[in-house]
Amino acid sequence: MAQEDIFKKLVAHCKEYGYVFQSSEVYDGLGAVYDYGQNGVELKNNIKKYWWDSMVLLHENVVGIDSAIFMHPTIWKASGHVDAFNDPLIDNKESKKRYRADVLIEDQRAKFEDKIEKEIKKAKKRFGDSFDEAQFRETNPRVQANQKKIEVLNERFTKALNDNDLEELKQIIVDYEIACPISGTKNWTDVRQFNLMFATEMGSTSDGAMKVYLRPETAQGIFVNYLNVQKTGRMKIPFGIAQIGKAFRNEIVARQFIFRMREFEQMEMQFFVRPGSELDWFDKWRETRIKWHRALGFGDDNYRFHEHEKLAHYANAAVDIEYRFPFGFKEVEGIHSRTDFDLSQHQEFSGKKIQYFDPELNKSYVPYVVETSIGVDRMFLQVMSAAYCEEEVEAANGKKDKRVVLKLPTVLAPTKLAVMPLVKKDGLPEKAREIINDLKFDFSCQYDEKDSIGKRYRRQDAVGTPFCVTVDHQSLEDNTVTIRYRDTMKQERVSIDQLRSLVGSQISFKDLFAKL
Ligand code: GAP
Repeated sequence: MAQEDIFKKLVAHCKEYGYVFQSSEVYDGLGAVYDYGQNGVELKNNIKKYWWDSMVLLHENVVGIDSAIFMHPTIWKASGHVDAFNDPLIDNKESKKRYRADVLIEDQRAKFEDKIEKEIKKAKKRFGDSFDEAQFRETNPRVQANQKKIEVLNERFTKALNDNDLEELKQIIVDYEIACPISGTKNWTDVRQFNLMFATEMGSTSDGAMKVYLRPETAQGIFVNYLNVQKTGRMKIPFGIAQIGKAFRNEIVARQFIFRMREFEQMEMQFFVRPGSELDWFDKWRETRIKWHRALGFGDDNYRFHEHEKLAHYANAAVDIEYRFPFGFKEVEGIHSRTDFDLSQHQEFSGKKIQYFDPELNKSYVPYVVETSIGVDRMFLQVMSAAYCEEEVEAANGKKDKRVVLKLPTVLAPTKLAVMPLVKKDGLPEKAREIINDLKFDFSCQYDEKDSIGKRYRRQDAVGTPFCVTVDHQSLEDNTVTIRYRDTMKQERVSIDQLRSLVGSQISFKDLFAKL
């Protein structure tokens, strides 16, 4: 099945099973804003717990905060967001659709990359186990030709971005004959800059209202609290401050479901270090973070690093962790060495000294910062893309059947255990509820009595519940149940007394943390 079709099915699945709804759907929706349903919120909370605990529990020198969304407007002047948090936009005159010029060019580059991937796939099939991908990349003329095209395009693109040369960005679009996906024409306007921050007013107009922004990143809330945390926590450098919270960007093009949203959530950690040591810490954090992703077991080949050619105004090194989404490799997380830019700017704009006295060096300095920043929603989409699976299975009557299953890592699954009475009588519902009442303080359980057992299994597969337990008449006699495993669909008879340890042992964050 084509990857776009899989993605469409995934989006529909998210709605059908209570994961993600379009915001304000009864009013025909609001562009690039989404709500999380009863299962979505649980998965999201589990993702946040995985991140938070891996930062704050596992690192004794990382602490958390929760800063306000509204902040003093001068913060955004100091951080550079008022002047430079822009995206280059371009309109197609025929379709009247608006695009990000840089994204159009990146999509063109992805086309060359796709061609290379296709060659590699074909060759892998042809040569089997003896296939040497590195050698093939170096010697195959078609791969080489496409690689060259990528390099030429990259060079022009990076220069145009670094020089902030909007005319050149347009010229690249013209030269590569990039067409509007809607109208198919190449009738473009000039490229213009567009600031992504949402603004509103605080206070009543009679008082003289103040223009405030909805924060476009959570990081600034950490920077302006650096001294508070360092002093009250008596923190010694190196140390980190972590935060999870909402961020808002007036994205020009909202595409790909929850990949690019106007209201989203970030999990960010700023790690404050001695000047000169930042690139070592940058390397350490990039390894720590890729391990965190890989520990979920979605396949190491599905992740890659993307080194930034154009560095943001505050960075001296930057890398993205990309995941192979159904629509290609895309950024999930960014790791930046942000130098002392932000703290120095806040020091200058606030007029207050923001420094650290280093007792070992016997001097004060503005700390350097390494940042790790990941979107909760994008991570959610990554997990769902990896977990969504359509399988051919054998039905009870021996015929072929299809099932949709969300192979979520058990620790992340919204419901861990579904408990099902075989029939709605003879004391079986009461026995099922007894089991839930006993286990509900240990992990999330769901009672499910509607439809045939087969249908109930399929429904729980589709939601991603890793364990189902069926209570039957034998259960009343010998206190045993049938446990069914989502991924293998294997069933076994176990004592009810075993359930706590059997399920509990496979849903522990501890095992996941042990891999980090
Ligand atoms: N403080 C640095 C910062 O905000 P960023 O690369 O702009 O860096 C970090 O964003 C992460 O936030 C991204 O890797 C992505 O996961 C998430 N993110 C950014 N914009 C987003 C959007 N419009 N919708 C959903 N997630 C977004």
